[in-house]
Amino acid sequence: MKNRLMIIGAGGFGREVLGWIEQIPEACRDWSVAGFLDSNPKALSGFNVVVPILGDPWHYTPSEHDVFVCAIGNTRTKLDLCAHLLSKGARFQDIVHPTAIVGPSCHIGRGCILCPGAVVTTNVRIGDFVILNVHATVGHDAEIGDGCTLSGHVDVTGGARLGRGVFLGSHACVLPLAEVGDFSIVGAGSVVLKRVRPNTTVMGVPAQKIMLPRQTP
Ligand SMILES: CC(C)(COP(=O)(O)OP(=O)(O)OC[C@H]1O[C@@H](n2cnc3c(N)ncnc32)[C@H](O)[C@@H]1OP(=O)(O)O)[C@@H](O)C(=O)NCCC(=O)NCCS
Repeated sequence: MKNRLMIIGAGGFGREVLGWIEQIPEACRDWSVAGFLDSNPKALSGFNVVVPILGDPWHYTPSEHDVFVCAIGNTRTKLDLCAHLLSKGARFQDIVHPTAIVGPSCHIGRGCILCPGAVVTTNVRIGDFVILNVHATVGHDAEIGDGCTLSGHVDVTGGARLGRGVFLGSHACVLPLAEVGDFSIVGAGSVVLKRVRPNTTVMGVPAQKIMLPRQTP
């Protein structure tokens, strides 16, 4: 019996992932899509999707032949949900589109999604539950922590390091040997030159911390 793949998250990215999965030849996988898990039972209303929502991921109990992938871009939600399901015994599946490239001596964790055109070059270490959206590139010797989301066309260059739960917006670039701390956010089109502290949002070229207006008492 083939395993049953549950896609966690029936939002826009979840529907994209379903489309990418349909382009993976059946012969290359020992699972087929059973459905989505989403807290919103109406998440697919108005969309032409035949795959059903089978339940709420927070209340779902994995069965023997279930495997999971989390198609949620928000890194905290993704890591919390994956930890919750792991604690119930869930097994996670990597989804690698046929046009994605993984070079030699790379480690890819469990539950990762490599979308069309994603490239992981050589001696790269990628943790669990990482998303590489379309045409995201990770260069030699880079390290990507658990739960990171690399949006479309992101460029993480040689030896760069992302902590846990980092979100990189579309077309963001992290220069060689630069570091981004845990749960930080890099805005779309931004360029990280050296270091971003944990839990920090940066944007622009070069990427800098947002200066919030001073609170008046
Ligand atoms: C960086 C980001 C997270 C900031 O979001 P936010 O906290 O809601 O900030 P706001 O939209 O209120 O913008 C705050 C200021 O930063 C500027 N700004 C926003 N994003 C920026 C970016 N990527 N680069 C440069 N400046 C940016 C805004 O113009 C605004 O400036 P102002 O105060 O002078 O008008 C967001 O803009 C972003 O880039 N997200 C990535 C989205 C993405 O790529 N998603 C992937 C596909 S789903």
